[in-house]
Amino acid sequence: MTVLETERMTLRQMNMRDVANLRGIFSDPEAMRYYPGTKDDAETRRWIQWNLDSYAQHGIGLWIATLKDSEQFAGQCGLVVQDVEGVVEIEIGYLFLRRLWGQGLATEAAQACRDYGFDQLGLTRLVSLIHVRNMASCRVAEKVGMTLEKEIIKWQKPICVYALAKHEAPSRA
Ligand SMILES: CC(C)(COP(=O)(O)OP(=O)(O)OC[C@H]1O[C@@H](n2cnc3c(N)ncnc32)[C@H](O)[C@@H]1OP(=O)(O)O)[C@@H](O)C(=O)NCCC(=O)NCCS
Repeated sequence: MTVLETERMTLRQMNMRDVANLRGIFSDPEAMRYYPGTKDDAETRRWIQWNLDSYAQHGIGLWIATLKDSEQFAGQCGLVVQDVEGVVEIEIGYLFLRRLWGQGLATEAAQACRDYGFDQLGLTRLVSLIHVRNMASCRVAEKVGMTLEKEIIKWQKPICVYALAKHEAPSRA
């Protein structure tokens, strides 16, 4: 099911046939550098099931980004329910295939998720939770319009909380 379209990508719900697609990211130690580790097939299926449960429970989750021109898998981006120091927040999350980094794809997908969250879902605030050393991800958050709000410890790691309120969001079409 297609959720969103951007200039270069389609974002759709993931399903169990995406194991091989997602393993393109999850088997790459560089892409998983700021995560607990790489994921094998079984862990990838659990990740997909977690997202299927999130779609069912919250109507949101990480979605599969496919390039429109080649129909190739590019990555995943979407909206995820997170606990931030006891407060429920909605996070924009993004992970892309390493060979596609640096082309603005994460920014394009994250901006579309931002607009979808504010304009279609009526959310008033979005965050991104980013390891303090993950500079590329911090930069994507900034290009989405977010600013660094605070640093917390989450997942036993130092994490930047980037945030954006709807009324402060860059003007949209
Ligand atoms: C973070 C990630 C999604 C970015 O994807 P991408 O498609 O390359 O992102 P974009 O091209 O839209 O933008 C990347 C920006 O970061 C900048 N950047 C990249 N590496 C950087 C670094 N080491 N230090 C500072 N900036 C960096 C780029 O120059 C670009 O900014 P610019 O447009 O101002 O030049 C990608 O690196 C990724 O999938 N990483 C692994 C998963 C991950 O860490 N996800 C985030 C979890 S919070």
